[in-house]
Amino acid sequence: MAQRESWATRTGFILAAVGSAVGLGNVWRFPYQVGEYGGAAFLVFYLLLIAFVGFPVMMVEFAIGRYTDRNPVGAMKQIGSGVWSKIGWVFLVAGFVILSYYSVVAGWILQYTVIGLQGNYAAGGAGAQFAATTGGLTSVLTHAIFMAAVIGIVAFGIQDGIEFSVKLMVPAILALLVGLAVYAGTLSGAGEAYAYYLSPDLGTMAANWTEILPAAAAQAFFTLSLGMGVMITYASYLGEDRNLAKDGVIIVGLDTLIAFTAGLVAFPILFTADLTETTDGPGFIFVSLSEAFSNIPLGGVLGAIFFATVSIAALSSAISIMEVVTSYLIDEYGVDRKVAVGALGTAIFLLGVPVAYDQSASLVWLVVYDGIANQILLILGGLLLAIFVGWFATDLGLEELDKGVRDLGAWGQAWIWILRVPVIVLLLVVLWQNATGV
Ligand code: PHE
Ligand code: NA
Repeated sequence: MAQRESWATRTGFILAAVGSAVGLGNVWRFPYQVGEYGGAAFLVFYLLLIAFVGFPVMMVEFAIGRYTDRNPVGAMKQIGSGVWSKIGWVFLVAGFVILSYYSVVAGWILQYTVIGLQGNYAAGGAGAQFAATTGGLTSVLTHAIFMAAVIGIVAFGIQDGIEFSVKLMVPAILALLVGLAVYAGTLSGAGEAYAYYLSPDLGTMAANWTEILPAAAAQAFFTLSLGMGVMITYASYLGEDRNLAKDGVIIVGLDTLIAFTAGLVAFPILFTADLTETTDGPGFIFVSLSEAFSNIPLGGVLGAIFFATVSIAALSSAISIMEVVTSYLIDEYGVDRKVAVGALGTAIFLLGVPVAYDQSASLVWLVVYDGIANQILLILGGLLLAIFVGWFATDLGLEELDKGVRDLGAWGQAWIWILRVPVIVLLLVVLWQNATGV
């Protein structure tokens, strides 16, 4: 068998992981979750969960991936016994579902980039414009275009496909978003927007934490690409000498910074424009934000830059999901990479067609796919990983984390104990809440 692929550089791995983390989760999902769950109150829970649940679970994925040098299914087969040897399948199924609807939303983002370039967004008609974008054949077509781009990149492999493309995409995303945030800061509504976004209302937090907490947990997993084996897969292409925790801090830090920056772009624009139409939920950036673009000077160009940035971010995430399922066929069955990507990419495209074609105003298919994948599968995946390394594969985890650090000491114990009790309890509660609440 040919030698397994690997990253060319440490930076390449970090950029790929950042590229995976930074995506629609930061720019599309995060702002509407903030809007739906009380602004800064949501932000506080979210940040706590990122640090105390997301980061430890990311370390679990890194450890498993680097230890086994395998795709998530193969990795669990190698180190898990009994039912543990099977849990990789949860990740594979999650990957299929997530990529299928992620690509549909990314297709709409592409359409909105073009609309901005063509002039401007529909003033007063943002809802109708969004309704015309979603559903029907155009939406299926843009879904196909996006999946074709994903397949194209991943077909070139780890170094020439993923690593090469993220070296271009990740710096571009950062530069564009920071530029947009600086511009948004000069708008007249910026002050009011920052106040809404940045001052937590303790009353709201106390009253609604049972709703905010599960939503913030789901968002934390989604945004960090956790619970579906992306980080297992990416770490499986790593050499042995790296300090996983250090890489993790950079990756989590950048993802958080970018989500935060997306809020600094969206809220000032929203507060500045006199909105006639707003919408919550998945339509938020499409309806409310594009309506806002139509009300500010140069809104068309700005909107095009914004949506182009989001398209790039979506692409660098989508390729990581594609790589999870692709690596499975390559590792386990020796299938040629191009064949594997082509076949799986087509299957994922087909799975997304109902979401793309759906013409209901409530986007029922999207809500169902997002609910299953995000609120159930990702949390379940993270929970299983925390139990596995926290209670069963503790030595393996500590050994991997210690490489490149060499004196993990109390940090390692702290990590294990966070996994063992608080993370598991919290994820069980969240899973229960989400499973009974969807
Ligand atoms: N982290 C990505 C985002 O924020 C989404 C994602 C989820 C990617 C799960 C891979 C796996 O958009
Ligand atoms: Na993210």
